[in-house]
Amino acid sequence: MSADLNGWQAVCPMAELLPGEHTVCFDGDTAILVCNIDGEIYALEDKCTHQDFELSPGKLDGAEIECVLHGARFDVRTGQALCAPAYAPVPKFPVRIDNGMIYTRDDR
Ligand code: FES
Repeated sequence: MSADLNGWQAVCPMAELLPGEHTVCFDGDTAILVCNIDGEIYALEDKCTHQDFELSPGKLDGAEIECVLHGARFDVRTGQALCAPAYAPVPKFPVRIDNGMIYTRDDR
């Protein structure tokens, strides 16, 4: 790993996260949901802004993921809440691809 990747968390190789798939990694205590939407990788906190339930058990539908607890939907490209009962956006994290490996980090 090159020095400028310090602080970045390795997620998995690009080849292991196909379009329409998602996975979870951790940066410290922060669970990060990492999604492949049509070949673009997006990362956001794996925590619904309604009652803090994990978003990762939900299914991706295009660029949207639905919280399995009460049905709030979020755009994983932006973190934006799309319907009640969630109104606040989910924090979005940066992504970088290096040598075919996906990295992200909690940059808050
Ligand atoms: S905890 Fe996600 S919709 Fe309620």
